[in-house]
Amino acid sequence: MLIVFINAAVCVLLLALPVRAETLEVLHWWTSASERRAADFLVSRLEKEGLDWKDAAIPGGSGLGAMKVLKSRVLSDKAPQAAQLIGPAIAEWGDLGLLLELDGVAKQAKWGASILPTPYASVRLRGHVIAAPLGVHRINTLFYNQKIFKQLGLQPPQTWPEFERTADKIKRAGFIPLAQSGEPWQVATLFESLVLSEGGPAYYRDLFVRRRANAFFDPRLGRALERLRALRRYMPDPIAEKSWTLTAKMLAKDEAAMMMMGDWVKGELNAWGLATDVAFGCVAVPGTADMHLYSIDTLVMFAGNYSRQDAQEKLAQLIVSPAVQAGYNRIKGSVPVRRDADIRQMDSCSRSSWQTFVKGGMVQAPSLTHRMASDEALKDAIVAQVHRYFMDPQMPTSEAQRRMAGIVRALGAGEKDI
Ligand code: BGC
Repeated sequence: MLIVFINAAVCVLLLALPVRAETLEVLHWWTSASERRAADFLVSRLEKEGLDWKDAAIPGGSGLGAMKVLKSRVLSDKAPQAAQLIGPAIAEWGDLGLLLELDGVAKQAKWGASILPTPYASVRLRGHVIAAPLGVHRINTLFYNQKIFKQLGLQPPQTWPEFERTADKIKRAGFIPLAQSGEPWQVATLFESLVLSEGGPAYYRDLFVRRRANAFFDPRLGRALERLRALRRYMPDPIAEKSWTLTAKMLAKDEAAMMMMGDWVKGELNAWGLATDVAFGCVAVPGTADMHLYSIDTLVMFAGNYSRQDAQEKLAQLIVSPAVQAGYNRIKGSVPVRRDADIRQMDSCSRSSWQTFVKGGMVQAPSLTHRMASDEALKDAIVAQVHRYFMDPQMPTSEAQRRMAGIVRALGAGEKDI
């Protein structure tokens, strides 16, 4: 009797408390100026829905630190309500039963019909929707400094011979031709664009998605590796392990004339007040004009004890809605995941990215470095190997190829295809 009475009293008390906004803790690695603005845009949209975004931002380009923190939090039963998780990891974590299924939201907002096939496939597991895609980044982007190009009368290069002629002229004029950091993930980001340029999407998938060990002995990989090394003569010397934002600063400050990196750099240059097509331009990395090396930023919701499900569903629904897609991606540098994206509102970089991406699987290749192609183990091992080869001019190219094939053999077969 007493227990019943106490329970009732507690209930009355709880009902009498003022209604507080529901809080969602979101773990991500968006800490640069543009990344922060893009996240803040989501925060403000969420606020309008009466929801609080509690920020768990872990600095570090490409999310190396964030993934470590996320894993340890999940293992110690302290998962946040939402987190940036991308690529095959989404299905792996879904298989462990950690993620909230978003089928209700997806059905109601018709995600199946409104999201492009590749991002939609990347958030599904055995017929269930288990994540909300935010935007598509293009990795094979070459940025160039308009001022330096105009001053020297140069056109953006489309082929490698053109690139070399252009870079030689830039070097003779006293500028750094290619801004580049020695940080392993940034070296690997350049490397994967070079692999795509040499071999195209099908060969790229043989390597990093299907993991065919024999494909690693192919001369196309050898050529990509050698180009990576040859490009060093156009990079700052010595090469420092600068963050990607500091590397982009070289382009922004007219010290370097070009940079090859994912189009989050566009968001960042814009955030620094540099307008696309005025201060800088962008084209595809030479030899990849009709190809799209992509990475899809995505939020997953952790099921926990289901106490925040309503708020999490609201966040998921908001993320994919047309207005949030347009606003967020404009700041972030990526393009919407929606079929009905309005290309008239995009700048030339985004338009070219979107128009290439929508051509579908034949032109698309998933970024290895940015976790779209494989699990963490293969990614980490290949990135380390590429970095070692890049830093050690003594290592024969065939040795690097042999080591990568060895990694793939040791880690086992990959997907048949995706
Ligand atoms: C993410 C981007 C991010 C970039 C730099 C990539 O892996 O997809 O959203 O801006 O890393 O941190």
